[in-house]
Amino acid sequence: MAAPSPDDLARRTADPGWAQAFRDVPREHFIPDAAWADPMGPAPGHWIDRTIDPGAWREAVYSDSVIVTQIEDGATELTAESSAQTTGFTSSSSAPSHVLDFLGLLDPSPGDRVLEIGTGTGWTCALLAARIGAENVTSIEIDEDIAEQAAANLDRAGFTPHLVVGDGARGAPERAPFDRIHVTCGVREVPYAWVAQTRPGGVIVAPWMPGNGGHKLRLTVTGDSAVGRFHGDCGYMMMRAQRPAAVTIADDERESIARVDPRRIDRAGTGFQVALQGAVPGITAAGGASADGTFLLVLSDGSGSHARARHAPGSGRTQVVQRGPQNLWDEVEAAYLRWVGWGEPGRDRFGLTVTREGHHIWLDTPDNHITGA
Ligand SMILES: C[S@@+](CC[C@H](N)C(=O)[O-])C[C@H]1O[C@@H](n2cnc3c(N)ncnc32)[C@H](O)[C@@H]1O
Repeated sequence: MAAPSPDDLARRTADPGWAQAFRDVPREHFIPDAAWADPMGPAPGHWIDRTIDPGAWREAVYSDSVIVTQIEDGATELTAESSAQTTGFTSSSSAPSHVLDFLGLLDPSPGDRVLEIGTGTGWTCALLAARIGAENVTSIEIDEDIAEQAAANLDRAGFTPHLVVGDGARGAPERAPFDRIHVTCGVREVPYAWVAQTRPGGVIVAPWMPGNGGHKLRLTVTGDSAVGRFHGDCGYMMMRAQRPAAVTIADDERESIARVDPRRIDRAGTGFQVALQGAVPGITAAGGASADGTFLLVLSDGSGSHARARHAPGSGRTQVVQRGPQNLWDEVEAAYLRWVGWGEPGRDRFGLTVTREGHHIWLDTPDNHITGA
């Protein structure tokens, strides 16, 4: 059998331009000798070390795996043990399927000027440089060590894009305007600086991760605002300033009985996830069943409100406990029933508008705001 190679990734796309870029920019130039490989799908994450098992290292590099290169902003050394224990992954080479999806949504034309937010390993930056010319690519990375490694990787692979070390939330005003902005870290909110630095008609793509779920977002800049829709799932490392903050939850428990079965809410899918963000911005929802069949849905809004809905098997009743300034369960139940009343629209019917004043989520057309509805 042939050894894993860039061809394995190139074959994932029907776009000949991106397939050529995948061949011209071997991912192996951007992956450290030792790292944590996290395959897409059910297979578990595992440690790869080129010096111990070069075959397994290469297989991971040319498979659809996230390769994690930093944890906890570098405060903890990346080792087999620390990677297996932490949930604090902070830099990586993203999974090739997501890289391809986003590059497809970005759809740059020859000569377009592109800004990438989150240089990471430098691989996406090099793919862009191979496709539209390094002189047209700017990439910004907030972490100095990661940026230094990316510069070395790009240099070794023979690409010379413009690299900036700094906070990508402010864009790169000194290099603006751009035709395309490619965000490769998760955002709850799209900073207005990106809209202001993109030419009218230009495009911003980003992993929109407002709290529950991750959604590929493609916005077109119309002048003072940007408008667009969602295109499939994604999970990315969050932009530093937009990570959820630790909050203290008040202990004033309010108990009630739910009207809606929380399992229905948990299973409602990505259309409801987006609709829920319109009703309760920033809310997170995590559901799961325990061995005895009890189902628990936990809600949090990141600013001190919290709710638990516990559905016991056989009883048909769901007990709710709410704490903090907002009755989150009541709001989620109302948002769910409103979404059902709309005919349970899927994610592709929702969109987002970003203006200088803020964000609006809409249903079907940009004038049909559901934010705060
Ligand atoms: C998923 S990785 C990017 C993957 C990268 N595009 C690649 O091809 O390897 C996300 C990166 O975003 C960076 N990041 C987080 N917050 C940032 C910010 N405010 N500005 C710039 N970069 C940021 C992280 O340090 C991390 O390296």
